[in-house]
Amino acid sequence: MSGLIANTLSVQGLTHSYGGAAAVDEVSFTVPAGEIAALLGPSGCGKSTVLRAIAGLVSPRSGSIMLGDADLGHLPARERGIGMVFQNYALFPHLTVAENIAYPLACQHVGRTERRERVTEMLELVRLADYAKRLPRELSGGQQQRVAVARALAPSPSLLLLDEPFGALDRALRFDLQVEMLRLQKTLGITTLIVTHDQEEAQSLASSLVLMNKGRIEQIDTPMAVYDRPQTLFVNRFIGQANQFEAIVETLETNATILRLRSGEALSLPRRLDFVTGAAVVATCRPEHVSLVDAPAANALAATVGVSVPLGPSLVHDLILANGGELRASQARGPETLVPAAGSTVFASIDTARCHVFPAPGTPSA
Ligand SMILES: Nc1ncnc2c1ncn2[C@@H]1O[C@H](COP(=O)(O)OP(=O)(O)OP(=O)(O)O)[C@@H](O)[C@H]1O
Ligand SMILES: [Mg+2]
Repeated sequence: MSGLIANTLSVQGLTHSYGGAAAVDEVSFTVPAGEIAALLGPSGCGKSTVLRAIAGLVSPRSGSIMLGDADLGHLPARERGIGMVFQNYALFPHLTVAENIAYPLACQHVGRTERRERVTEMLELVRLADYAKRLPRELSGGQQQRVAVARALAPSPSLLLLDEPFGALDRALRFDLQVEMLRLQKTLGITTLIVTHDQEEAQSLASSLVLMNKGRIEQIDTPMAVYDRPQTLFVNRFIGQANQFEAIVETLETNATILRLRSGEALSLPRRLDFVTGAAVVATCRPEHVSLVDAPAANALAATVGVSVPLGPSLVHDLILANGGELRASQARGPETLVPAAGSTVFASIDTARCHVFPAPGTPSA
């Protein structure tokens, strides 16, 4: 299985439309050789279109697609050396597991003996050696998914494209297969691009995330950077949870900014923001950066407890603010942690050093 030379995938200025508005608009990103990147975004944002353009299944209006030194743009799909796993696996229903895996090898005129050896090797790789003679309908969803991966890998592609490969599976199986996928990818060292709309899946599999929204790239970063330093409100809300406040920039000081929330309260941030006084903004904070205190304090908003729910190691509070707005807080839970009663009054202390502030949607950026 070794001997594969991993190549960097480089997509530049990719644009495609299916007639009307652009489904993919000037998309550029690279996946370093041997790494996994995840293409992530809401339904309809253009993820599958990007994958199909790379695979040669749609012809983009413009843009370049390079794999190492090879310009894929001018090659027909079958000559691109790409293994692809489709959203619904797309196994041939009338072929056995072994025949499904052998199919792309037969298309490449690989000889019978070598084909058989390769199929055996692939079946072992995805741990399905005992299932060679079964038909796809005689397999579980997870097993079918592994056949689809084996079929994609059989011709030793130099790039692996996975379109929502775990989409149809339940949570526990998804997790097992993600671990399996990571193992395979590490063993083979093959450059991989995985499409998902599941942010946890993306974060657990990929070394970099490519976030798309409405055909465009919003941010490309490591999973941690995307979570800790979202560059847009969309990214902040799409990855993880975010409380959000509409506000006006009231005062700018050398090392501080005071925001006046729509509810009338003030939040003081320990840094000067790059906005002008009076700018309309949206401030966000993650639930883990809100803690409950029992007395009024700076940056603490009066609230009523709606419900407090233990979720594994955390206690999650859904709070109702004085103006009717909602705020979620999450704290680490120990055996001694008190669960506040619904309806009790608390103060939600916001760690304003961890707040992000974006221009209000529809206003020119700072
Ligand atoms: N064959 C097609 N003909 C016309 N429009 C299409 C076609 N395929 C996709 N589109 C449109 O292009 C846009 C992007 O679609 P795409 O399938 O790339 O989205 P996606 O991000 O993969 O979504 P999902 O998460 O739902 O799979 C959508 O608005 C979709 O309706
Ligand atoms: Mg899709």
